[in-house]
Amino acid sequence: MKILPYTPLSPIQKSALRHLLMQYFAGLDWKDPKDAIPPSYVPKILARIAEMLYQGDFWVYLARENRALCGFIIAQIDSEGKDWCKRPGWGFIRELYVLPGHRGKGIAKELVAYAKQWARERGCTELASDCEIENEGSRVFHNSIGFQEANTIVCFVMAL
Ligand SMILES: CC(C)(COP(=O)(O)OP(=O)(O)OC[C@H]1O[C@@H](n2cnc3c(N)ncnc32)[C@H](O)[C@@H]1OP(=O)(O)O)[C@@H](O)C(=O)NCCC(=O)NCCS
Repeated sequence: MKILPYTPLSPIQKSALRHLLMQYFAGLDWKDPKDAIPPSYVPKILARIAEMLYQGDFWVYLARENRALCGFIIAQIDSEGKDWCKRPGWGFIRELYVLPGHRGKGIAKELVAYAKQWARERGCTELASDCEIENEGSRVFHNSIGFQEANTIVCFVMAL
């Protein structure tokens, strides 16, 4: 297995990330179908990723196994200038995904190891992440690679 920094300039990587993002969003358990991210929105996310990579303090790594790009991690360093700054100076994992056929082989753990190293090199002393409370697999994964559960929240919405 190999971990590669993502570059939007590579058509192969871009198309692989598009595919992975589609699989990722399709596999999420949306409580309200209205919240689901449709495949048609993925190109906009890819464009935003390219912009954020250019702006810095944001990174994406891809995992490759047997020539297949099979997973990704998207993370950033939180700062006042970011769209939603929770903890300035902290590294944040925004999204993490491994294709079902490649799971259970330590790929996500390795992706997080790269994110940790990247964040450390840029002065972060903390790396944060989150997942839905029902996402038991992700919860066990986070606990088993050294994260500690820090908080649980309830989200609200009202119709206008
Ligand atoms: C969560 C996810 C990223 C884990 O990927 P993975 O490559 O299979 O994880 P790893 O093989 O690196 O697992 C590392 C450790 O976590 C444990 N683990 C991973 N997934 C697990 C699961 N579903 N149930 C129980 N333990 C799990 C592994 O047993 C392993 O423990 P070990 O080091 O003691 O052997 C993957 O299942 C996934 O993409 N899920 C869908 C998307 C998602 O939920 N993303 C996270 C939201 S932030």
